[in-house]
Amino acid sequence: MVASDTRFTSRQFRDALSSFVTGVTVVTCLDSQGKKAGITVNSFNSVSMEPPLILWSINKSAHNAAVFAHAERFAINILSDQQAHLSNQFARPSADEFADVSFRSGLGKVPLLSDSITCFQCRRWAVYNGGDHDIIVGQVEALETSFRSGLVFYRGGYATVTSI
Ligand SMILES: Cc1cc2nc3c(=O)[nH]c(=O)nc-3n(C[C@H](O)[C@H](O)[C@H](O)COP(=O)(O)O)c2cc1C
Repeated sequence: MVASDTRFTSRQFRDALSSFVTGVTVVTCLDSQGKKAGITVNSFNSVSMEPPLILWSINKSAHNAAVFAHAERFAINILSDQQAHLSNQFARPSADEFADVSFRSGLGKVPLLSDSITCFQCRRWAVYNGGDHDIIVGQVEALETSFRSGLVFYRGGYATVTSI
């Protein structure tokens, strides 16, 4: 592609986005029946310090998109470099997404994944229309964090953090 090409395919758009290095999270919540839901997400970002707000976005065609858009509470579990298997597990549809996953219950009984490096427990603040995604903003009600190394997603694959 030439610089500043105004015509691009969605493949080129995806590839360009994949040049942005992110961490990997699993967002968890309960549906209205109390069933656990989880999805692998790298669209997580910070928004506001006061009040403490974060955001992430979910594809409207994801099978549990409505569950997350309506969940009053959810948790952002930031994965460690030992948890790539959890990223894979929560990125594919399954009858039991939480099979063999170790977790405990947080505020509103939302599942919090064991050994994630950071966990933000959030209350839904707003949901915005973002094209084919919903943008979900949450207010952080509780957090815990540690100094383990995070899992990195870059150009469609996993990596680990090294300092320069
Ligand atoms: C590293 C990684 C990051 C992802 N980030 C997002 C995301 O931010 N938002 C999203 O809707 N799906 C994201 N996905 C895809 C979902 O985890 C999931 O695969 C997709 O929603 C499939 O759901 P479905 O089975 O309901 O179609 C990501 C997948 C991976 C592996």
